[in-house]
Amino acid sequence: MTRGLLLGALLTAVAITAFAAPSGYVWHLPPGVMPPPVPADNPMSEAKVVLGRRLFYDADLSIDGTTSCGTCHEQHRAFTEGNASHPGVGGVPGKRNVMALGNVAYFTPLTWADPTLHSLETQMRVPVLGTNPVEMGMAGKENELARRLAADDCYRQMFQAAFPEEQGRIDMKTVGKALASFERTLISYDAPYDKARRGDRSAMSDAARRGEKIFSGLGCADCHSGVNFTDLKYHAIGLYDVDGKGGYPARDRGLIEISGKASDEGAMRTPSLRNVALTGPYMHDGSVKTLPDAARGHAGRETSGLKAKVAALDAGEMADLVAFLESLSDRSFVTNPDFALPRMACGKPNY
Ligand code: HEC
Ligand code: HEC
Repeated sequence: MTRGLLLGALLTAVAITAFAAPSGYVWHLPPGVMPPPVPADNPMSEAKVVLGRRLFYDADLSIDGTTSCGTCHEQHRAFTEGNASHPGVGGVPGKRNVMALGNVAYFTPLTWADPTLHSLETQMRVPVLGTNPVEMGMAGKENELARRLAADDCYRQMFQAAFPEEQGRIDMKTVGKALASFERTLISYDAPYDKARRGDRSAMSDAARRGEKIFSGLGCADCHSGVNFTDLKYHAIGLYDVDGKGGYPARDRGLIEISGKASDEGAMRTPSLRNVALTGPYMHDGSVKTLPDAARGHAGRETSGLKAKVAALDAGEMADLVAFLESLSDRSFVTNPDFALPRMACGKPNY
């Protein structure tokens, strides 16, 4: 073998191992897409994904058995919900708009405005145990949660299969690891936009192509950047110009609530625009109903000039911009049966 061939063979070997996790878990990814980062202490496995999926749709994770993760994160809406916010158990009003979960494995920090949330393993404690606002209402009831799950034979088998090294222990840690493993499989890179990038030029309409140019020309991609259309950074876009300076109303002041820094008033993590045409209403509080109005809502100190530029678009240009945003909708992601409520568990009907 020549030196060049040997090098080629080595490089191929490296490329393949990058896609097959050390645990042997095989990612089902479109060509050219790298697997997301996975924490060393929670390697992927099929057993964890299957368990995490069942937990995601199990309302026993809420105090009164009414609310599962899937209640607020609905697959057909790219794992959001169609209202401005969704109440927690007992009708406690929600505070923020439910976020989409497509490609969430690649996002850190998590949520609209909490720079301390870095892992899916711990993020799940917010809906399950959180009190601001109450979502699933299990604060102080971790043992009750474990007891409920352990009362089910099928869960005992599933935890054993997923966590043999921990003797199938059922607690918040293993529940969090399984949920995170399932969430990491929620990969969405098969929209018309992706197909066009992979060479199928007909996948995107002419309008969507023109809209893509408008999107970058206006500077939208300064913040909605990269393959997931987010820089994962915090910006105050001045959605509410309450004081003429892009200030925010007291009920939700964004990043400042955690950082305490005046400059973080109203700052939110740039939302990904993947599947955005399916995830309305928009913004951290769900106050904006349409994509054109979402584009027009960028008016604050960090988006100087954007409001005027968006206002200057004629109707055809705005339609093109919307066509581009619509080209980010991934039909196979929102209909993939692997992400839906599991019909079977342990060989028997589930529910
Ligand atoms: C009552 C509705 C509700 C329930 C139930 C719920 N969520 Fe959420 N979820 C939300 C809202 C609202 C946000 C945004 C929260 C914020 O930014 O303060 C969110 C954000 C997230 C995010 C962050 C996404 C990102 O891009 O950063 C993840 C991950 C997530 N939820 C997973 C889950 C999991 C797992 C469960 C079940 C254990 C769950 N959620 C249950 C409403 C809900
Ligand atoms: C300075 C950074 C920045 C720029 C530039 C920017 N955005 Fe945004 N965008 C954000 C942030 C941050 C939010 C969330 C704000 C909130 O909820 O308060 C957002 C929200 C959105 C939403 C709503 C998404 C959702 O899931 O709720 C859409 C749609 C959107 N932007 C499109 C655009 C378009 C189109 C442009 C160009 C005309 C643009 N953005 C320019 C940062 C930016």
